[in-house]
Amino acid sequence: MQNNVRPETMERITTPELAQAFIEEQVAEIRAQVGDKKVLLALSGGVDSSVVAALLIKAIGKNLYCVHVNHGLMRKGESEQVIEVFRNGLDANLTYVDATDRFLGLLEGVTDPETKRKIIGNEFIKVFDEEALKLMSEGISFLAQGTIYPDIIESDGVKAHHNVGGLPEEMKFELVEPVRLLYKDEVRVVGKALGLPDNMVYRQPFPGPGLGVRCLGAITRDRLEALRESDAILREEFAKNGLEGKVWQYFTIVPDFKTTGVKNGKRSFEWPAIIRAVNTTDAMTATVEEIPYALLHHITQRITNEVPGINRVLLDLTPKPCGTIEWE
Ligand code: XMP
Repeated sequence: MQNNVRPETMERITTPELAQAFIEEQVAEIRAQVGDKKVLLALSGGVDSSVVAALLIKAIGKNLYCVHVNHGLMRKGESEQVIEVFRNGLDANLTYVDATDRFLGLLEGVTDPETKRKIIGNEFIKVFDEEALKLMSEGISFLAQGTIYPDIIESDGVKAHHNVGGLPEEMKFELVEPVRLLYKDEVRVVGKALGLPDNMVYRQPFPGPGLGVRCLGAITRDRLEALRESDAILREEFAKNGLEGKVWQYFTIVPDFKTTGVKNGKRSFEWPAIIRAVNTTDAMTATVEEIPYALLHHITQRITNEVPGINRVLLDLTPKPCGTIEWE
């Protein structure tokens, strides 16, 4: 049974040395907990699950079975980075599931934001469970999770066992949660000490339903692609201009309406891309980041020139409240 209470004496992990000590301690603890048994992990590529994966690989190597589900709503290059970092870089046992067609098929014609969220969430569990069932023949006894301390506080620490949704009752996994007593900033320091790339360690928050809640209304493949490309340009320009890590969350949104424009001397009828960049500490309220106008002009030019289907760029100036951070 894991200890889910952070001791008052526990030092805040702020330096590479403290991170190294934590890593060594956790590697020993993981080995003591799981021995030569096998562990399953849903690896999204977010900082928490990535740090857990890297810790477990260090402790038990190929006895960690990572499953990365690509729901087709990832940002540009994210799934590729998971494969590059974990399979190619750390020699991880990684199952990559491209479930794009399943998710986009189920989402076809669905316009209600909450229904979209439910479909994405439920299907994610279903796909992961199917992969877990396939791996059961390997004799997996543990499930690793990227639970962090704020998650424990929010759920009152009641999280002893977990049963992946579609698996038979008797197949209960014991949990392995090596970063459960850490705050987000500490997870990042540990991630850095484990050698994970900066853009993974300092990644901005990304909602579970991914680009699905930014491709407004009924998702279509071409509009989703326009969203992914415009978002990639925004992120690239923010990184080049020193805004990555400074702005809490920044992304584009593509609504499901078109406006008239002129492109290459011809009339165009295409979607706008909306820029949203906000700062917050707890996501309950948020202020709008003041992006320099020259940069906004440059981003506008790049998006309208480079992204098929986009002929306008708009800027969202709404704080939270009254606008939420996401548009759906
Ligand atoms: P809102 O839009 O409510 O977002 O101001 C606050 C923060 O939560 C994220 N968010 C989500 N995260 N699943 C998630 O995992 C969701 O369905 C979801 N909706 C919003 C959002 O990106 C922001 O950081």
